Amino acid sequence: MSATIKLENNHFPVLLKEFISIISPLYGGTFIDCTFGQGGYSKKILEIKNNKVIAIDRDSDVYLYAKELENKYKKRFHFHNIKFSEINKIKLKKNDLKAIIFDLGYSTNQIRDLSKGISFKSKGKLNMKMGLNNFSTHEVIANMNENNLNKIFKFFGDEKYSSRIARKIIEIRKKKTIDTETLTEIIDKIKKFKNYKINNSTKIFQALRIFVNKEISELVDGLINAYSLLPVGGVIVVVTFHSLEDKIVKFFFKNYSELKNSSRYLPDNEKNITYFKLQNKKPLIASAEELKLNPSSRSAKLRFGTKIRNDCNFQEFKQKFKYLLDIENLEFNK
Ligand SMILES: C[S@@+](CC[C@H](N)C(=O)[O-])C[C@H]1O[C@@H](n2cnc3c(N)ncnc32)[C@H](O)[C@@H]1O
Repeated sequence: MSATIKLENNHFPVLLKEFISIISPLYGGTFIDCTFGQGGYSKKILEIKNNKVIAIDRDSDVYLYAKELENKYKKRFHFHNIKFSEINKIKLKKNDLKAIIFDLGYSTNQIRDLSKGISFKSKGKLNMKMGLNNFSTHEVIANMNENNLNKIFKFFGDEKYSSRIARKIIEIRKKKTIDTETLTEIIDKIKKFKNYKINNSTKIFQALRIFVNKEISELVDGLINAYSLLPVGGVIVVVTFHSLEDKIVKFFFKNYSELKNSSRYLPDNEKNITYFKLQNKKPLIASAEELKLNPSSRSAKLRFGTKIRNDCNFQEFKQKFKYLLDIENLEFNK
Protein backbone atom coordinates (compact mmCIF):
# COMPACT_ATOMS: atom_id res chain seq x y z
CA MET A 1 0.00 0.00 0.00
CA SER A 2 1.17 3.51 -0.74
CA ALA A 3 2.19 5.77 2.08
CA THR A 4 1.44 8.87 0.04
CA ILE A 5 -1.16 10.99 1.82
CA LYS A 6 -3.26 14.03 1.02
CA LEU A 7 -3.91 16.56 3.76
CA GLU A 8 -5.94 19.74 3.20
CA ASN A 9 -4.84 20.00 -0.45
CA ASN A 10 -1.25 19.45 0.59
CA HIS A 11 0.19 16.30 -0.87
CA PHE A 12 3.05 14.57 0.96
CA PRO A 13 4.94 12.04 -1.11
CA VAL A 14 6.74 9.47 1.01
CA LEU A 15 10.50 9.91 1.75
CA LEU A 16 10.52 13.20 -0.19
CA LYS A 17 13.53 14.68 1.64
CA GLU A 18 15.61 11.56 1.05
CA PHE A 19 14.47 11.47 -2.59
CA ILE A 20 15.51 15.10 -3.18
CA SER A 21 18.92 14.56 -1.62
CA ILE A 22 19.57 11.75 -4.13
CA ILE A 23 18.38 13.52 -7.27
CA SER A 24 19.48 17.11 -6.60
CA PRO A 25 23.09 16.50 -7.71
CA LEU A 26 21.61 15.42 -11.07
CA TYR A 27 19.55 18.55 -11.77
CA GLY A 28 19.61 19.94 -15.31
CA GLY A 29 18.24 17.10 -17.41
CA THR A 30 15.27 14.79 -17.91
CA PHE A 31 13.73 12.62 -15.18
CA ILE A 32 11.22 9.81 -15.74
CA ASP A 33 8.60 9.48 -13.00
CA CYS A 34 7.25 5.95 -13.66
CA THR A 35 4.51 6.21 -11.01
CA PHE A 36 3.07 9.72 -11.36
CA GLY A 37 0.07 9.31 -8.99
CA GLN A 38 -0.77 12.78 -7.71
CA GLY A 39 2.53 14.03 -9.06
CA GLY A 40 4.28 14.71 -5.76
CA TYR A 41 7.76 13.78 -7.01
CA SER A 42 7.23 15.27 -10.49
CA LYS A 43 6.17 18.64 -9.04
CA LYS A 44 9.23 18.77 -6.83
CA ILE A 45 11.58 18.07 -9.77
CA LEU A 46 9.84 20.69 -11.95
CA GLU A 47 10.40 23.41 -9.32
CA ILE A 48 13.97 23.56 -10.70
CA LYS A 49 13.90 25.56 -13.95
CA ASN A 50 16.14 23.46 -16.20
CA ASN A 51 14.65 20.08 -15.24
CA LYS A 52 12.22 18.16 -17.47
CA VAL A 53 9.86 15.34 -16.46
CA ILE A 54 8.36 12.52 -18.46
CA ALA A 55 5.62 11.02 -16.28
CA ILE A 56 3.94 7.63 -16.61
CA ASP A 57 0.92 6.12 -14.91
CA ARG A 58 -1.27 3.14 -15.87
CA ASP A 59 -4.29 4.76 -14.16
CA SER A 60 -5.91 7.23 -16.57
CA ASP A 61 -7.67 8.96 -13.62
CA VAL A 62 -4.39 10.65 -12.67
CA TYR A 63 -4.63 12.73 -15.86
CA LEU A 64 -6.54 15.22 -13.70
CA TYR A 65 -3.25 16.03 -11.95
CA ALA A 66 -1.05 15.58 -15.04
CA LYS A 67 -3.12 18.14 -16.97
CA GLU A 68 -2.37 20.78 -14.34
CA LEU A 69 1.37 20.25 -14.83
CA GLU A 70 1.04 20.13 -18.64
CA ASN A 71 -0.59 23.57 -18.53
CA LYS A 72 1.89 25.01 -16.07
CA TYR A 73 5.12 23.61 -17.50
CA LYS A 74 4.16 23.12 -21.20
CA LYS A 75 7.56 22.18 -22.69
CA ARG A 76 9.05 20.66 -19.54
CA PHE A 77 6.38 18.08 -18.68
CA HIS A 78 4.86 15.20 -20.69
CA PHE A 79 2.49 12.49 -19.50
CA HIS A 80 1.99 8.96 -20.90
CA ASN A 81 -0.87 6.65 -19.85
CA ILE A 82 1.16 3.44 -20.20
CA LYS A 83 2.54 0.73 -17.90
CA PHE A 84 6.11 1.27 -16.77
CA SER A 85 7.15 -2.11 -18.20
CA GLU A 86 6.79 -0.32 -21.57
CA ILE A 87 9.15 2.51 -20.64
CA ASN A 88 11.51 1.52 -23.45
CA LYS A 89 8.81 2.55 -25.98
CA ILE A 90 9.25 6.21 -25.00
CA LYS A 91 11.00 8.08 -27.79
CA LEU A 92 13.60 10.55 -26.52
CA LYS A 93 14.75 13.36 -28.83
CA LYS A 94 17.98 13.57 -26.88
CA ASN A 95 18.96 11.14 -24.13
CA ASP A 96 19.80 13.50 -21.26
CA LEU A 97 18.11 11.19 -18.74
CA LYS A 98 19.34 11.71 -15.20
CA ALA A 99 17.11 9.41 -13.16
CA ILE A 100 14.22 6.97 -13.46
CA ILE A 101 11.95 6.82 -10.44
CA PHE A 102 9.51 4.14 -9.21
CA ASP A 103 7.26 4.82 -6.18
CA LEU A 104 5.51 1.45 -6.13
CA GLY A 105 2.07 0.59 -4.84
CA TYR A 106 -1.22 2.46 -4.86
CA SER A 107 -2.03 6.10 -4.33
CA THR A 108 -4.34 7.17 -1.53
CA ASN A 109 -6.80 8.28 -4.21
CA GLN A 110 -6.89 4.77 -5.66
CA ILE A 111 -7.46 3.25 -2.22
CA ARG A 112 -10.19 5.79 -1.37
CA ASP A 113 -11.98 5.20 -4.70
CA LEU A 114 -14.06 2.23 -3.54
CA SER A 115 -15.18 1.49 -7.14
CA LYS A 116 -11.64 0.32 -7.86
CA GLY A 117 -12.07 -2.31 -5.13
CA ILE A 118 -8.43 -2.04 -4.04
CA SER A 119 -9.30 -1.72 -0.36
CA PHE A 120 -11.01 -4.52 1.57
CA LYS A 121 -13.41 -1.79 2.73
CA SER A 122 -14.87 -1.71 -0.81
CA LYS A 123 -18.33 -3.03 -1.58
CA GLY A 124 -19.84 -4.98 -4.45
CA LYS A 125 -18.18 -6.62 -7.46
CA LEU A 126 -14.52 -7.52 -7.00
CA ASN A 127 -12.24 -5.37 -9.15
CA MET A 128 -8.69 -4.29 -8.05
CA LYS A 129 -7.66 -3.09 -11.56
CA MET A 130 -5.15 -0.23 -11.45
CA GLY A 131 -5.54 0.53 -15.17
CA LEU A 132 -4.69 -1.10 -18.54
CA ASN A 133 -5.55 -4.58 -17.22
CA ASN A 134 -6.73 -7.65 -19.12
CA PHE A 135 -9.06 -8.93 -16.38
CA SER A 136 -10.32 -8.14 -12.88
CA THR A 137 -10.31 -10.01 -9.55
CA HIS A 138 -13.98 -10.92 -10.16
CA GLU A 139 -12.93 -13.16 -13.08
CA VAL A 140 -10.09 -14.72 -11.09
CA ILE A 141 -12.26 -15.60 -8.08
CA ALA A 142 -15.07 -16.87 -10.33
CA ASN A 143 -12.89 -19.10 -12.54
CA MET A 144 -9.45 -19.94 -11.17
CA ASN A 145 -9.01 -23.52 -9.92
CA GLU A 146 -8.30 -24.29 -6.25
CA ASN A 147 -4.66 -25.26 -6.70
CA ASN A 148 -3.79 -22.06 -8.55
CA LEU A 149 -5.72 -19.84 -6.11
CA ASN A 150 -3.73 -21.47 -3.31
CA LYS A 151 -0.43 -20.69 -5.12
CA ILE A 152 -1.41 -17.03 -5.61
CA PHE A 153 -2.39 -16.61 -1.95
CA LYS A 154 0.71 -18.41 -0.69
CA PHE A 155 3.41 -16.88 -2.88
CA PHE A 156 2.02 -13.37 -3.46
CA GLY A 157 0.41 -12.94 -0.02
CA ASP A 158 2.47 -15.23 2.19
CA GLU A 159 -0.92 -16.32 3.59
CA LYS A 160 -0.69 -19.16 6.10
CA TYR A 161 -4.32 -20.20 5.49
CA SER A 162 -4.03 -20.11 1.68
CA SER A 163 -5.29 -23.65 1.01
CA ARG A 164 -8.29 -23.41 3.37
CA ILE A 165 -9.32 -20.06 1.89
CA ALA A 166 -8.94 -21.38 -1.69
CA ARG A 167 -11.05 -24.46 -0.85
CA LYS A 168 -13.81 -22.34 0.72
CA ILE A 169 -13.91 -20.01 -2.31
CA ILE A 170 -14.55 -22.99 -4.62
CA GLU A 171 -17.30 -24.26 -2.29
CA ILE A 172 -19.06 -20.89 -1.94
CA ARG A 173 -18.87 -19.89 -5.61
CA LYS A 174 -20.95 -22.98 -6.54
CA LYS A 175 -23.82 -21.35 -4.60
CA LYS A 176 -23.38 -17.62 -5.28
CA THR A 177 -21.22 -14.94 -6.89
CA ILE A 178 -18.38 -13.92 -4.60
CA ASP A 179 -18.22 -10.14 -4.23
CA THR A 180 -15.90 -8.09 -2.01
CA GLU A 181 -18.01 -8.50 1.14
CA THR A 182 -18.36 -12.28 0.62
CA LEU A 183 -14.61 -12.65 0.13
CA THR A 184 -13.79 -10.77 3.34
CA GLU A 185 -16.44 -12.86 5.19
CA ILE A 186 -14.86 -16.10 3.94
CA ILE A 187 -11.43 -14.94 5.12
CA ASP A 188 -12.77 -13.69 8.48
CA LYS A 189 -14.52 -17.02 9.16
CA ILE A 190 -11.37 -19.03 8.48
CA LYS A 191 -9.15 -16.70 10.50
CA LYS A 192 -11.68 -16.34 13.32
CA PHE A 193 -10.21 -15.78 16.79
CA LYS A 194 -6.72 -15.25 15.37
CA ASN A 195 -5.10 -12.28 16.99
CA TYR A 196 -3.51 -10.47 14.06
CA LYS A 197 -2.01 -7.01 14.04
CA ILE A 198 -3.18 -6.53 10.47
CA ASN A 199 -6.66 -6.91 8.99
CA ASN A 200 -7.53 -10.54 8.20
CA SER A 201 -7.96 -9.72 4.50
CA THR A 202 -4.72 -7.77 3.96
CA LYS A 203 -2.64 -10.67 2.64
CA ILE A 204 -5.27 -12.17 0.32
CA PHE A 205 -6.07 -8.72 -1.13
CA GLN A 206 -2.35 -8.04 -1.66
CA ALA A 207 -1.98 -11.39 -3.46
CA LEU A 208 -4.96 -10.77 -5.75
CA ARG A 209 -3.84 -7.21 -6.56
CA ILE A 210 -0.39 -8.48 -7.53
CA PHE A 211 -1.93 -11.15 -9.78
CA VAL A 212 -4.52 -8.90 -11.47
CA ASN A 213 -2.06 -6.07 -12.07
CA LYS A 214 0.88 -8.39 -13.00
CA GLU A 215 2.99 -6.46 -10.52
CA ILE A 216 5.93 -8.90 -10.52
CA SER A 217 6.52 -8.79 -14.29
CA GLU A 218 5.82 -5.04 -14.29
CA LEU A 219 8.60 -4.57 -11.74
CA VAL A 220 11.10 -7.01 -13.29
CA ASP A 221 10.58 -5.67 -16.85
CA GLY A 222 10.30 -2.07 -15.61
CA LEU A 223 13.71 -2.25 -13.88
CA ILE A 224 15.43 -3.99 -16.82
CA ASN A 225 13.98 -1.55 -19.36
CA ALA A 226 14.82 1.44 -17.15
CA TYR A 227 18.45 0.24 -17.05
CA SER A 228 18.51 -0.06 -20.87
CA LEU A 229 17.11 3.42 -21.41
CA LEU A 230 19.30 5.16 -18.83
CA PRO A 231 22.76 6.40 -19.90
CA VAL A 232 25.80 5.52 -17.75
CA GLY A 233 25.86 7.94 -14.78
CA GLY A 234 22.06 7.93 -14.45
CA VAL A 235 20.30 6.75 -11.30
CA ILE A 236 17.41 4.33 -10.70
CA VAL A 237 15.40 5.12 -7.54
CA VAL A 238 12.80 2.68 -6.19
CA VAL A 239 10.44 2.99 -3.21
CA THR A 240 8.78 -0.29 -2.17
CA PHE A 241 5.95 -1.01 0.26
CA HIS A 242 6.01 -4.73 0.90
CA SER A 243 8.66 -7.38 1.39
CA LEU A 244 8.09 -9.17 -1.92
CA GLU A 245 8.72 -5.97 -3.91
CA ASP A 246 11.71 -5.12 -1.76
CA LYS A 247 13.21 -8.60 -2.23
CA ILE A 248 13.14 -8.10 -6.02
CA VAL A 249 14.60 -4.57 -5.91
CA LYS A 250 17.27 -5.56 -3.37
CA PHE A 251 18.47 -8.44 -5.57
CA PHE A 252 18.46 -6.21 -8.70
CA PHE A 253 20.83 -3.67 -7.14
CA LYS A 254 22.91 -6.01 -4.95
CA ASN A 255 23.55 -8.74 -7.50
CA TYR A 256 24.76 -6.31 -10.16
CA SER A 257 26.86 -4.10 -7.89
CA GLU A 258 29.03 -6.79 -6.23
CA LEU A 259 32.01 -8.68 -7.64
CA LYS A 260 31.37 -12.42 -7.83
CA ASN A 261 34.82 -13.95 -7.71
CA SER A 262 33.51 -17.00 -5.93
CA SER A 263 30.58 -17.72 -8.24
CA ARG A 264 30.86 -21.08 -9.98
CA TYR A 265 28.05 -20.21 -12.34
CA LEU A 266 29.51 -17.24 -14.17
CA PRO A 267 32.15 -17.32 -16.92
CA ASP A 268 35.48 -15.79 -15.74
CA ASN A 269 35.10 -12.71 -17.93
CA GLU A 270 31.83 -11.79 -16.19
CA LYS A 271 32.99 -12.24 -12.59
CA ASN A 272 34.74 -8.91 -12.24
CA ILE A 273 32.06 -6.78 -13.84
CA THR A 274 29.59 -4.61 -11.94
CA TYR A 275 26.79 -2.58 -13.47
CA PHE A 276 25.66 -0.37 -10.56
CA LYS A 277 27.39 1.63 -7.87
CA LEU A 278 25.47 1.78 -4.60
CA GLN A 279 25.95 4.51 -2.04
CA ASN A 280 24.05 2.61 0.67
CA LYS A 281 23.70 -1.12 1.13
CA LYS A 282 20.75 -0.67 3.46
CA PRO A 283 17.52 0.94 2.26
CA LEU A 284 16.53 4.44 3.40
CA ILE A 285 13.45 4.47 5.63
CA ALA A 286 11.14 7.15 7.02
CA SER A 287 12.46 9.41 9.78
CA ALA A 288 10.71 9.64 13.17
CA GLU A 289 9.40 13.04 12.04
CA GLU A 290 7.82 11.61 8.86
CA LEU A 291 6.39 8.62 10.75
CA LYS A 292 4.60 11.00 13.09
CA LEU A 293 3.03 12.87 10.18
CA ASN A 294 2.32 9.81 8.06
CA PRO A 295 2.30 6.48 10.00
CA SER A 296 1.82 4.38 6.85
CA SER A 297 5.30 5.45 5.67
CA ARG A 298 6.63 2.84 8.16
CA SER A 299 6.68 0.18 5.43
CA ALA A 300 8.41 2.33 2.78
CA LYS A 301 11.98 1.42 1.75
CA LEU A 302 13.98 3.45 -0.73
CA ARG A 303 16.84 1.86 -2.69
CA PHE A 304 18.85 3.49 -5.46
CA GLY A 305 21.85 2.79 -7.65
CA THR A 306 23.95 4.62 -10.26
CA LYS A 307 24.41 2.85 -13.59
CA ILE A 308 28.13 2.46 -14.30
CA ARG A 309 28.17 0.12 -17.29
CA ASN A 310 26.08 -0.92 -20.33
CA ASP A 311 25.11 -4.37 -21.63
CA CYS A 312 23.89 -6.24 -18.57
CA ASN A 313 21.77 -9.23 -19.67
CA PHE A 314 20.01 -9.71 -16.27
CA GLN A 315 19.83 -13.52 -16.78
CA GLU A 316 20.33 -14.26 -13.07
CA PHE A 317 17.70 -11.67 -12.10
CA LYS A 318 15.08 -13.20 -14.42
CA GLN A 319 15.99 -16.72 -13.32
CA LYS A 320 15.82 -15.85 -9.62
CA PHE A 321 12.20 -14.67 -9.83
CA LYS A 322 11.00 -17.09 -12.53
CA TYR A 323 8.90 -18.98 -9.96
CA LEU A 324 6.91 -15.79 -9.27
CA LEU A 325 6.63 -14.87 -12.95
CA ASP A 326 5.27 -18.39 -13.65
CA ILE A 327 2.54 -17.95 -11.02
CA GLU A 328 1.62 -14.61 -12.55
CA ASN A 329 1.10 -16.40 -15.88
CA LEU A 330 -1.24 -19.08 -14.51
CA GLU A 331 -4.15 -19.52 -16.91
CA PHE A 332 -7.87 -19.53 -16.16
CA ASN A 333 -11.04 -19.27 -18.28
CA LYS A 334 -12.04 -15.64 -18.46
C1 LIG B 1 2.30 5.28 -4.71
S1 LIG B 1 1.54 5.97 -6.09
C2 LIG B 1 2.69 7.18 -6.59
C3 LIG B 1 2.59 8.45 -5.83
C4 LIG B 1 3.42 9.56 -6.40
N1 LIG B 1 4.84 9.37 -6.18
C5 LIG B 1 3.00 10.89 -5.81
O1 LIG B 1 3.83 11.57 -5.19
O2 LIG B 1 1.82 11.23 -5.96
C6 LIG B 1 1.77 4.76 -7.32
C7 LIG B 1 1.21 5.11 -8.69
O3 LIG B 1 1.86 4.25 -9.62
C8 LIG B 1 0.94 3.78 -10.56
N2 LIG B 1 1.44 2.48 -11.02
C9 LIG B 1 1.57 1.36 -10.29
N3 LIG B 1 2.07 0.36 -11.06
C10 LIG B 1 2.27 0.89 -12.29
C11 LIG B 1 2.78 0.37 -13.51
N4 LIG B 1 3.15 -0.90 -13.63
N5 LIG B 1 2.87 1.21 -14.58
C12 LIG B 1 2.48 2.51 -14.48
N6 LIG B 1 1.97 3.05 -13.35
C13 LIG B 1 1.88 2.26 -12.27
C14 LIG B 1 -0.37 3.68 -9.81
O4 LIG B 1 -1.44 3.78 -10.70
C15 LIG B 1 -0.26 4.89 -8.85
O5 LIG B 1 -0.88 6.02 -9.40
